[in-house]
Amino acid sequence: MSELLEKIEKRRTFAIISHPDAGKTTLTEKLLLYGGAIHLAGSVKARKSNKHAVSDWMEIEKQRGISVTSSVLQFDYDGYRVNILDTPGHQDFSEDTYRTLMAADSAVMLIDAAKGVEPQTKKLFWVCHRRHLPIFTFVNKLDRYGRNPFDLMDELENVLGIRAYPIDWPIGIDGKYKGVYNRMENTIQMFEEDGSHGSKQLKSTTGSLDDPKIKEMLGDELYNQLAEDIELLDMAGDEFDMERVNKGELTPMFFGSAMTNFGVQSFLEKFLELSPEPQPRALQNGDIVDPSNEKFSAFVFKIQANMNPAHRDRISFMRICSGKFEKGMTVYHKQSGKPIKLAMPQQFMAQERTIVEEAYPGDIIGVFDPGIFGIGDSLSDNSLKLQFEDFPVFPPEIFARVQPKDSLKRKQFEKGIIQLSQEGAIQVFKQEGVGMESYIVGVVGVLQLEVLEYRLKNEYSAQLLMNQLPYSVARWVYAESKDQVENLKGLDNGMLVYDKKDRPVILVNNEWALNWILDRNPGIQFLTVPADVEKI
Ligand code: G4P
Repeated sequence: MSELLEKIEKRRTFAIISHPDAGKTTLTEKLLLYGGAIHLAGSVKARKSNKHAVSDWMEIEKQRGISVTSSVLQFDYDGYRVNILDTPGHQDFSEDTYRTLMAADSAVMLIDAAKGVEPQTKKLFWVCHRRHLPIFTFVNKLDRYGRNPFDLMDELENVLGIRAYPIDWPIGIDGKYKGVYNRMENTIQMFEEDGSHGSKQLKSTTGSLDDPKIKEMLGDELYNQLAEDIELLDMAGDEFDMERVNKGELTPMFFGSAMTNFGVQSFLEKFLELSPEPQPRALQNGDIVDPSNEKFSAFVFKIQANMNPAHRDRISFMRICSGKFEKGMTVYHKQSGKPIKLAMPQQFMAQERTIVEEAYPGDIIGVFDPGIFGIGDSLSDNSLKLQFEDFPVFPPEIFARVQPKDSLKRKQFEKGIIQLSQEGAIQVFKQEGVGMESYIVGVVGVLQLEVLEYRLKNEYSAQLLMNQLPYSVARWVYAESKDQVENLKGLDNGMLVYDKKDRPVILVNNEWALNWILDRNPGIQFLTVPADVEKI
């Protein structure tokens, strides 16, 4: 096997998707713990508690140079090179969170055993699902009361439309769990308290279901309940089918507790075995590029700016899609039509950043960007000059009208708005008849608005007047005639605007209003994404 194929086979690049507080930080930390990247859990957590307000966040970014939590964490485990893409939650939830999923080959959906599927999990799930990304489910917090696992399986199916194949099954009655049974290995892992509260790797007792020692440990009641559950699953549940997993139709389901480390290592090992290696990527012209192509290609999925205001530096994060990356190599940048030298590439090993000498498909590197890259840009070997398919547009949910406080600063204001929109920090809309003096800005997280204000002031010396609008839903409008679109002007319960490609978009405050408008405007269609980028 060629060196490149060997590297590809052993790489896993994934994102953890969850609702805030389900335990993503804790799980990430425990995966790093098993990977040997950190020795005593606690450091990822410590960083997290630092970022509260936007000003803190900016300060921290400045001091540390870059936030590791907002990019990618890399570690080695059992011969695998693992890249965990971070998907920020809480108040720093933004379009970046969605776009990061474009760089993943699979996702781990983390669910709180007591809460089930929560709103943010749902949103992130849909982005993955539309890409047919394989999704692995980890039900967390098994150390305390949790919901019946059959109910959780039903919820996955009813709310998300995905069937689950439990690989583990929790042992316990009425939500009080003692351990897990692994259906594939026919082994039991019982929880053993070690007094370290999860800061060290957990000791556990392992044995097969027929082992008299295990039977005795379980006791009759637990044993009988487990035997009954397993029989029901074997009879009425889905068969394990890797093809369906790979298409995102069936999710392998695991149970554990990140805080106490319980079930984390067995999950990690099974996940690495089953999850896909770096996958081929689609091009604009309908072709695909295979990772095993010896020639380098990559796309930019995230731009982090304002690392250091004195230098206005930006780092562009790119995912390598094919070939081998070598430090200092010159590649062709499709969007500018120019060759570019990738100097000083950075990689992010657990807690520090290091200069990368070489990297392979599935890896993420960050390069200093003098302002040439945009989200979704393609880089490739000079002989390929390829272009990856467009990045999807995500419907914003928060809208504000923005204008410069001082009309003399209109030029700077406009330049800033346009550049930040190119960078993917905001989506910009125009209202017909309104000139350059004001824009409608759309985002998915409030932090994006705060960042917009901060950056316009600090990087473009333009202070903002910002009025949040009472809308939370955006739909791209498709109509048979221009008149039908014109009819949407002057609505009481909505606003017609145009995106940067001049496509009409309607803003309303709820789904109900959409239906109201649709009923009164036959021939009109509302789409969650523009039709020309629908395929993701
Ligand atoms: P997030 O990144 O998804 O937002 O979640 P995070 O890991 O910060 O976890 C949220 C809370 O849930 C934390 O408690 C964390 O300790 C707890 N947690 C995570 N995994 C488990 C688990 O397996 N079992 C139990 N019982 N709790 C878990 P906190 O009180 O908010 O913070 P802390 O005081 O523990 O630091």
